[in-house]
Amino acid sequence: MKLKGVVLAGGLGSRLLPLTKVTNKHLLPVHDQPMIYYPIRSLVNAGIREILLVTGGNNAGDFLRLLGNGREFGLERLHYAYQEGEGGIAEALALAGPFADHSAVCVILGDNLIQGNIVEAARDFDADPTGALLMLKEVDKPERFGVARFEGDRLVDIIEKPKDPPSAHAVIGIYFYDHEVFEIIPQLEASERGELEITDVNNHYLRAGKLRWRQLEGWWTDAGTFTSLSRANRLVAEGGANRTDL
Ligand code: DAU
Repeated sequence: MKLKGVVLAGGLGSRLLPLTKVTNKHLLPVHDQPMIYYPIRSLVNAGIREILLVTGGNNAGDFLRLLGNGREFGLERLHYAYQEGEGGIAEALALAGPFADHSAVCVILGDNLIQGNIVEAARDFDADPTGALLMLKEVDKPERFGVARFEGDRLVDIIEKPKDPPSAHAVIGIYFYDHEVFEIIPQLEASERGELEITDVNNHYLRAGKLRWRQLEGWWTDAGTFTSLSRANRLVAEGGANRTDL
């Protein structure tokens, strides 16, 4: 597989204070493993072998101690990049430009967990690595996420944390992009929360007619709030994550 993987594990994790006062959110436990194991496993299960981890803050060294070369995941080596500050998901992704080196990328947020796998989506995008491919999932509280707006079956807009969600379809934190993403990000302007938003990247592809989407099978959750962290713990304890039999 030519597709490369990028795990984004920067940011402050301020919604989990005081748990994140002296450590990085992605090092916190989810059931029996550190949170960061789950998104790495999602990429590995999809057949991706070249992986970059982007992190930041005061505890970046702990990732190296924990993960080393990624041998535990069957990787030959794991690549690392450091995000100074927390200027947003798209800012963190921009650091992966030299690593991607003209390859397409599968990007996963470090606090996103899935029950099943993304093998089919990864194979599809690897076979036709053009534009962008998003994964959608129906959720109970779409206002917490990027939300898809449809006209009929057609996806026409993505709105970040809408007060009045136009659908229940959240854009989950697993994204496939061609190499153009690294030209799009420098054109973005910071949002009201002072971040370069991944939703702006996705809308850029959408407006250019280069955005595809799929529904994710099985459960999906983030783990960045107390409620979602305990849900993640429960879901993993009940039936496991990253299952390859689904
Ligand atoms: O979980 C899916 C959602 O993730 C999407 O539906 C939203 O469209 C997307 O904006 C994002 O929403 P959040 O506001 O929940 O993202 P959060 O700020 O919690 O960041 C999610 C992960 O991204 C975090 O675990 C690490 C990474 N990140 C985030 C920031 C702000 C970075 O690597 N660097 C950053 O500067």
